Amino acid sequence: MKTHWNIQTSVGEFVTDNALCAETFEDLSIDFCCGGDTTLEKACRDKGLEPEGVLGQLKLLENRETDQDADLDQLTPAQLTLHIESKHHEYLKKVFPRISDLLDKVLNAHGERHPELKELKTTFTHLREDLEPHLLKEERVLFPLIRKLESQELGANMKAVAGPIHVMLTEHDRAGDLLKEIRELTKGFEVPDDGCQSFQLLYKELKFLEADTHLHIHKENNILFLKVNPSICLG
Ligand SMILES: [Fe+2]
Ligand SMILES: [Fe+2]
Repeated sequence: MKTHWNIQTSVGEFVTDNALCAETFEDLSIDFCCGGDTTLEKACRDKGLEPEGVLGQLKLLENRETDQDADLDQLTPAQLTLHIESKHHEYLKKVFPRISDLLDKVLNAHGERHPELKELKTTFTHLREDLEPHLLKEERVLFPLIRKLESQELGANMKAVAGPIHVMLTEHDRAGDLLKEIRELTKGFEVPDDGCQSFQLLYKELKFLEADTHLHIHKENNILFLKVNPSICLG
């Protein structure tokens, strides 16, 4: 039971406590990853929503915790890096080329009647070009550093991770902005009436990409980085 939940609880904490809250926040367009330290009250007011009503919806999820993500907060930073790599990095590496191909196909078939597809391709390409090297920086620099820190090879030198974490936080903000642009360009992933099956599949893949990347960034910003060096993430 999450008896401590109230409207002053941060939106990131809701998702850390129960990953199902991410779905509710996605539906309400509440940013729980880059804006994870915002209180529920402020996040709701900014969207013109009633905080107590949303809190009620979230409390209904209390008894429906997800299986594998429920105990993430119990993992050590090193274990978290392995979880993030296997679950979210591997997914992105597979899905990026798939979506690029699909986007080309849909653009060829529907580009004339749907000029927004060209812009969608530009924005998606920016996201891919930003995130692919970002994943490598985490896998080759930051995550190994976190694992070394945990095995005490670096002693308690938290400063060693401060620089790389700052860079990652900035890149997460940029990815969050590009995902917002994709949501706007696709009108919330609503397939037009003349959209073929590939069009439908493209929007479905993009919607899943958004949800998975929000959760991915949330796990890094609000769980992993906070565990490694709380002073970096606050403020
Ligand atoms: Fe990552
Ligand atoms: Fe990241």
